[in-house]
Amino acid sequence: MSRRTRLPWQKPTITPHRAGAMNKFGASRYQFFQPDVDGVEIARLVREFGSPLFVISERKLRENVRRLRRAFATRYPRVRYAWSYKTNYLNAVCAVLHQEGAWAEVVSDFEYQKARALGVPGSRILFNGPYKPRAILESAVAEGASIHLDHLDELYLVEDIAERAGKKIGVTMRLNFDTGYADPWSRFGFNIDSGEAMDAARHIAAGRSLRLTGLHSHIGTFILDVRAYISQVRIMADFMKAVESETGCAIETIDIGGGFASRNSLHGVYLPPDQVVPSIEQYAEAIASALMEATRRRSGRRRRPPTLILETGRAIVDDAEVLVASVVGTKRLPDGRRAVVVDAGVNLLFTSFWYHHEFKPVRPLDGIPEETVVYGSLCMNLDVVRHSVMLPPLSVGDSLVIGPAGAYNNTQWLQFIQYRPNVVMIHEDGAVSVVRRAEDLEAITALERLPDHLGNPYPHGLPD
Ligand SMILES: Cc1ncc(COP(=O)(O)O)c(C=O)c1O
Repeated sequence: MSRRTRLPWQKPTITPHRAGAMNKFGASRYQFFQPDVDGVEIARLVREFGSPLFVISERKLRENVRRLRRAFATRYPRVRYAWSYKTNYLNAVCAVLHQEGAWAEVVSDFEYQKARALGVPGSRILFNGPYKPRAILESAVAEGASIHLDHLDELYLVEDIAERAGKKIGVTMRLNFDTGYADPWSRFGFNIDSGEAMDAARHIAAGRSLRLTGLHSHIGTFILDVRAYISQVRIMADFMKAVESETGCAIETIDIGGGFASRNSLHGVYLPPDQVVPSIEQYAEAIASALMEATRRRSGRRRRPPTLILETGRAIVDDAEVLVASVVGTKRLPDGRRAVVVDAGVNLLFTSFWYHHEFKPVRPLDGIPEETVVYGSLCMNLDVVRHSVMLPPLSVGDSLVIGPAGAYNNTQWLQFIQYRPNVVMIHEDGAVSVVRRAEDLEAITALERLPDHLGNPYPHGLPD
């Protein structure tokens, strides 16, 4: 690793000493640094693919999904895993997860078409979401996708489509209820407590074109208390038994959605992720034992235990990707704090609104770590990627590894002011490929059309 031969000159400043220079665990922070991703030097990646740059580890992605599947398969007899496209629908990410056996969990016509274009058969797609236009529902019914009904109007629509197609299809009902642990997401699905869910189930049973075969719920995201899942599974199992005895249906699948926390630091959570985020095995133990228990107590008729479906998103992909950004300017703020401007903003790191990401230089840097504000590259006051982080003195050109960044950033990022950069994947053999190329003017304006009479911006000559 090359070290500077000359130290950069920094204008001296007087920094007042404040109580609290020690961190909350008593010791002063030491500097982390991260020179590579899976053995591939980040400095080399930046030279070849530019900065900012998203870097995905195929190895970590596969490792995470295998661990999840193993944790559940060793504790429950029938488990299915579906990749939640909205978490990260870059084709390369989805393809890795499908190779690992994942179904697709989609929530729009766009995501449905993306999964189909990647070669996922309709029969391996779970179709969630509050708005599924008729045309895509017709394809989904024809292709045997598992449709998760969100509301009554959608139920009537699917009923109509199935009837016109002369089919009787199995459907899943999305449920909402209060687990007592997480704020209920009552806007999605049918409410159990008000009787709405049972009414809908009765309606399905009374009709000729639908069969209720599955129950689904997604109780929230970044759920740190495994007891929320135990409560969820018990409520769903109770509803399963009630709906089976009331309508005569046979529930084949119980889909508990996603929501497992990733190894990130949520705003407002005091302790570091290592101390507060349950392991995948802890989630699995809680969920599988609650479901086994509930299944054992299932009523008279002998049926197979329902298949447990997982739609885990962030816990699979978050720590398999980082964002590399580089310093483009350094500042001293009027209040004495150190600030740096980096070439990536909140347009690329949407999750900085929820997380305190880790920031690691790519090499050890000299100097005393100080509280630093990290501004992004947007000419917008809100573009602060980290309001306060301890960092050593940085100079223009120094790169920082920001992460975990794999969940929701490559889907919720904005093309705003700046081009979105290259995304590369480090493969298991160490090869690197661009899985989404950086935008350029042509890519961004490709869908725009300029009416003829607007072709010349200054038809009356250049303004003064
Ligand atoms: C229906 C559904 N399933 C799965 C997920 C993935 O959730 P997470 O990334 O928290 O695991 C979401 C995310 O909002 C969702 O709405």
